[in-house]
Amino acid sequence: MVSLTTCVFVVLLGFSRLVHSYYTEEYRPQFHFTPEQNWMNDPNGLVYYNGQYHLFYQYNPNGTTWGFMSWGHAVSTDLVHWKHLPIALECESDSNGNVLQMFFSGSAVVDVNNTTGFAVPVGKDRRGHVIYSTPMVAIYTSNYPTAHTQSNGVVIREGQQSQSIAFSNDDGLTWTQYEGNPVIESPPAQYADQYQQFRDPFVFWYAPTSKWIMVASLAMEHILLIYSSDNLKNWTLQSQFGPENARFGQWECPSLFPLYVDGNTKTQKWVVLLGINPGGIITASGTQYIVGSFNGTTFVPDPSDVYDPTQIPAGSAVFQDFESISSSFEELGWNATGDFSGLGPQNASTVQVWNIMGYLGTGVLTTYLFGDIATGTITSPTFTITKQYISFLIAGGYYPYNPATAGTPNDNQVSFSLVIGGQIVHSQTGTDTEDLVWRNWNVAGWMGQQAYFVVTDVNTGPFAHLHVDEIIFSDSPKDEANWFDFGPDLYAAATYNGLDNNHRTVIGWMNNWGYGQNIPTSPWRSAMSVPRTLALKTINNKVRLVQQPVSSLSSLYTSPLYSHQFSSLRAGETAINVPAPYNARMKFTVQFTRGSGTQVGVILRSNTTDTQETVVGYDFLGQNVFVDRFKSGDNSFVDWQPNPYPGRFIATLPTKSTDCITLNIFLDWSSVEVFDGQGQAVITSQIFPLDDSAQVKLFSVGGTTKSVTVSVNGIKSAWT
Ligand code: FRU
Repeated sequence: MVSLTTCVFVVLLGFSRLVHSYYTEEYRPQFHFTPEQNWMNDPNGLVYYNGQYHLFYQYNPNGTTWGFMSWGHAVSTDLVHWKHLPIALECESDSNGNVLQMFFSGSAVVDVNNTTGFAVPVGKDRRGHVIYSTPMVAIYTSNYPTAHTQSNGVVIREGQQSQSIAFSNDDGLTWTQYEGNPVIESPPAQYADQYQQFRDPFVFWYAPTSKWIMVASLAMEHILLIYSSDNLKNWTLQSQFGPENARFGQWECPSLFPLYVDGNTKTQKWVVLLGINPGGIITASGTQYIVGSFNGTTFVPDPSDVYDPTQIPAGSAVFQDFESISSSFEELGWNATGDFSGLGPQNASTVQVWNIMGYLGTGVLTTYLFGDIATGTITSPTFTITKQYISFLIAGGYYPYNPATAGTPNDNQVSFSLVIGGQIVHSQTGTDTEDLVWRNWNVAGWMGQQAYFVVTDVNTGPFAHLHVDEIIFSDSPKDEANWFDFGPDLYAAATYNGLDNNHRTVIGWMNNWGYGQNIPTSPWRSAMSVPRTLALKTINNKVRLVQQPVSSLSSLYTSPLYSHQFSSLRAGETAINVPAPYNARMKFTVQFTRGSGTQVGVILRSNTTDTQETVVGYDFLGQNVFVDRFKSGDNSFVDWQPNPYPGRFIATLPTKSTDCITLNIFLDWSSVEVFDGQGQAVITSQIFPLDDSAQVKLFSVGGTTKSVTVSVNGIKSAWT
């Protein structure tokens, strides 16, 4: 017979195993939010109320890829520890299994004045007066895959996207859809044909006029519509904004919010934060912002924050505009090899590829000649670096230059590079679009040196071509957009309602539509970024949106596991001992000043054979922070070309040679988030290293780095 104590022991053992194995699967983030299982995308309905941060999110209750979109729900009191709650709004189907309504992205507000009339009596006070609930209201896009007539008589077209509301009188736990839904059925008449691309309402209370304001996106038009309302049910169109800046692909998940500039309560500005997909800074998904003003009806961008792609900065010198379409590269002083030899710039409108746009004038350099199969190089004449920036227009497939494979049989680059002293010091590939966009390189570190450009196309695969135009030298960068994050994995950024005026906390989806449904995690797929505090800061005379992880994250830090000051960090690699499991989840802070070396940083998740490593560093010559995930681990989950996953990501950060530069690096099992000390150069990147990639190493390239201070804290799990 089994004794009672044995039974209790066995049950307890089972329980402890259960608890112990919670959130310990391979790659499971320990201080980032992930659903227990299934697919997640955008954060939705971020609202702080009654001491709780609500996080709703795009969720598929039925699988690990996108579909059956519903609103998942979790709450936290500190933005660090999360409690999973039941699904808030669940995808609806008819009895034949046709999906009638998916709950797409949106926002949430607390209707403290009961403008909606959704409040219900919840009791009486001591004097016998009725006490009412405070409704929480979600404003979301009803995405209707199937044509049907709703029970309220509204006729729905197939694929229609409309704005709807639902309310909760129990602090977000259970939800009732408003019987008059949708509250905005269609876009305004002039955009009537966009009824399937009208989505992602962000709503907030605008106190000066006592109105609710909604910003929603006409995704394909790159237009934000701004509406106002007294009751969240009847909405009046006030204005529209866009297209501006990055505008390839679709505009999604907009938000609009105020912040004080430099913390000064007398200078407030407004920020539009916006997802773009495809057309992000690397490939596919990206996030941009625009600073301006808002008067209750209209958003007006600061003129210095919108970039006319057809204007070249005053005082810039054109190195090559490729307008001589009747000349060969040789005649222009360039040198072309392989399939490009004897050829020259082409008339962009005659290049037989899908709709090239964004070039200036008529001619472009293109490697699409008789299809993607053309290969070879096109090299410029040598020139002397005399100005701080080189800017150019570029488009094409994403096949980045990878120093480890360049020149080997595995080389697949289609790239435009700058060569100085025999080394490629900057390189840019296409972003998987045919739309030429501006990119720029900081070359201050090579002033007076000889340089040349080389276009290298060794690839015959799909999209294996590049278009380059309008190479200019100037004192200021020619930007395409204000990128909010310079990595590939920060999308659909949403901010909290319900915090006071100068407090904005943002959470982004830490994934990318380019490969997001294939990442090698199970039984969940996708994580949220660490919640980040936003601020507006004047940097080099421009108001910039900056970000740092929320301070409450420090509650998970272990005491320092490693700290050291090197008055001079020697050239090469210096191993650091960070014990497991914290070598895979830590806050790594490094500060340094330029010495004789050209780059400094840290190699994370490296294995003994150096076949795996994630490199985070600063390039003193190129003046940028970088994250390199070419060798970060599993790259095999993408089985198509161009593979949008591997790469080296760069965030420009101009500094002076005496500056002390700080990098705060947050490493979790499958991600790295890097913030410079001001929070302007931020890179978010997923990584999928093997468990035995356990080493941590500092490095200094080409010489020493001065005054290097390192401090490492482990980050405890938020899920145990
Ligand atoms: C952005 C997005 C939104 C949409 C949601 C659907 O990632 O495409 O525009 O509302 O995802 O899940």
